[in-house]
Amino acid sequence: MEKEEKEKKELLKTLNNVFSPISPIKRKDFFFGRRIQLEHVVDAINEMGQHAILYGERGVGKTSLANIMYDSYTNLYPVKVTCNREDEFITLWDRAFKELKFAKTTSGSTFSEIEIKNIDKVRTELNNGQIVTPALVESLMRQLNGSKFLYIFDEFDNIRTKKIRSSFADLVKSLSDNIENTTIVLVGIGNDVEELVGSHRSLERCLKQIKMPRMSNDEAGAIIDNGLNQLDIKISKTVRQSIIEFSSGFPHYIHLLCKYGAKEIIENGKKEFNNAYLQIAIKNGIDNTSGHLRSSYQKAIVDSNNKSKWENIVNSCANGKTDTFNCFSTKDVLNEYNKLTGKTVKNGNITYNLNKLCDKERGEILLKLGKGVNTRYRFINPMMRAYVKLKANVNKTSI
Ligand SMILES: Nc1ncnc2c1ncn2[C@@H]1O[C@H](COP(=O)(O)OP(=O)(O)O)[C@@H](O)[C@H]1O
Ligand SMILES: [Mg+2]
Repeated sequence: MEKEEKEKKELLKTLNNVFSPISPIKRKDFFFGRRIQLEHVVDAINEMGQHAILYGERGVGKTSLANIMYDSYTNLYPVKVTCNREDEFITLWDRAFKELKFAKTTSGSTFSEIEIKNIDKVRTELNNGQIVTPALVESLMRQLNGSKFLYIFDEFDNIRTKKIRSSFADLVKSLSDNIENTTIVLVGIGNDVEELVGSHRSLERCLKQIKMPRMSNDEAGAIIDNGLNQLDIKISKTVRQSIIEFSSGFPHYIHLLCKYGAKEIIENGKKEFNNAYLQIAIKNGIDNTSGHLRSSYQKAIVDSNNKSKWENIVNSCANGKTDTFNCFSTKDVLNEYNKLTGKTVKNGNITYNLNKLCDKERGEILLKLGKGVNTRYRFINPMMRAYVKLKANVNKTSI
């Protein structure tokens, strides 16, 4: 008995390592797929004068990639700064240099005392009251020689002003021409590079644009297989496929469902992830989903007169056809809605409802793009689609 309890405890410990729905991946052995994106970043680091920008939707795995992008270098000092809304150009570089003192290469090298003193000197100069321009940052970098540096600025989308963003663009351009041992990687939420750094045509040559797409089924499958393998849990093909489909390419949901399913399985002393456990995983996973998603969804569907009307509309948005930009038209929603409810509702009604879902009172879950016949909608938070699907599934099956 005691042995069994000990085993369970061990497994639950492993579970927290292999499935981490909230925290980004920090170690290469828990990082799956993304070979192409990783190769692009590695190319940028290797190539003199080349820098990179990694962009994509929230939750696709950008920070995780940023965490392991330097893993294959032995002589590289990486620094990662997470940008926030209060940051200015100077505060970002101040943090970067501050972090630099503690930077460590993958082979374990750290800076010598003399080098640390030098970094301190650079920081003092940065903060001595003069206006911090890209040229100043460049001149400070020049004082840090002898090593290879990588500066990663994550959540770059948090930077408020165009001015700060352009300063980064100018810095990248100038470094590209003048400094050989430093690479800058910007990481942020965006549909394209322009959203993040504005339109800087002259950056094309020196700033490699790397889009982080949603995960492919194979990449998502690899997370499931590896994690469950380490927990000695088998999974049926159909349940595995369902988890992949529910996740809609967001690794967060893969981790979430696997975590809550496997937890229950381990606690019950079982070894098989079957449909019953998938249902539990969905239910517990949803209860542990971000509060923001839950409250917007709740606002979107609330209706005292007609309980399922809004729910059906939102479900139709999540399950209907989409284009390559994850947008859909009124007609797409209409087709799905009529299929779902067996009704023959007309365009006009649905348009009214879709517009309402763009308002604050209905949780502001959709964004409207274009006008007239070109009108399209998309979920403001791309993870909402997966959430709605999971929610619909819980409602369908009472556990
Ligand atoms: N390549 C990967 N392999 C396994 N899990 C991943 C991978 N990329 C991301 N994840 C998981 O997905 C979730 C979201 O990842 P994160 O890097 O925070 O995304 P983003 O920075 O794009 O918002 C986290 O739970 C993380 O552990
Ligand atoms: Mg991130």
